[in-house]
Amino acid sequence: MGWHEHDDGVFHGCEKFFRPGYAANLVSSWVPALTDVKEKLESGARVADVGCGKGASTVLMAKAFPKSQFFGFDYHDKSIEAARDSAKLAGVADRVTFEQAAAKQYPGKDYDFVAVFDCLHDMGDPVGAAAHVRRSLRDDGTWMIVEPFANDNLQDNLNPVGRVYYSFSTLLCTPCSRSQEVGLCLGAQSGEARIREVVSSAGFSRFRRATETPFNIVYEARP
Ligand SMILES: C[S@@+](CC[C@H](N)C(=O)[O-])C[C@H]1O[C@@H](n2cnc3c(N)ncnc32)[C@H](O)[C@@H]1O
Repeated sequence: MGWHEHDDGVFHGCEKFFRPGYAANLVSSWVPALTDVKEKLESGARVADVGCGKGASTVLMAKAFPKSQFFGFDYHDKSIEAARDSAKLAGVADRVTFEQAAAKQYPGKDYDFVAVFDCLHDMGDPVGAAAHVRRSLRDDGTWMIVEPFANDNLQDNLNPVGRVYYSFSTLLCTPCSRSQEVGLCLGAQSGEARIREVVSSAGFSRFRRATETPFNIVYEARP
């Protein structure tokens, strides 16, 4: 069952669930935890937010970094329509463009910064998506991967946050991945070791955990 086949309440609920964490951390601690990215965004960078959903993360970054240009992509048409409305409402539509595009096909080259928020594991072919990110990035660019918090071993995820994410994973993330080509099914609980494998096999040479909250791990990948 693809993401797009769910009721509207899922898209709304997903944004309500993740947005507070982005509002509290993205600009103040996640971006500064990456190498040289804050400076680039402050002076003017080309940024892609892939799998942007209703654009909460894109709009937060656009408000904080007015000299940068933001491109949000998602394969789901209704989310993209909602993202366009929220950019207008937030007064950032002059520097944010939203376009319907799958992660392996989004247009544009020479991005300084590409971000994915809580969606890499939803994709059928995360390795293919990672390879496309690599091709679309400048050689000195950065890919920020925000994923649900997960330890590598199942027994280490048997805590309240892990229980919530395993239930999301069963009902949303894994069916979405299965509905697409490859169907790798990382699930919401893939952990650092598995994400490292995906990123490395797509041709990135540098990978590290930049920071984390109880709900998310933030990874930095560089060519
Ligand atoms: C859990 S939601 C996260 C949305 C948004 N990034 C956020 O944090 O609020 C997962 C998103 O991934 C998108 N998605 C799934 N597979 C995709 C693909 N192959 N290409 C692009 N987007 C995809 C879905 O449409 C959905 O918007």
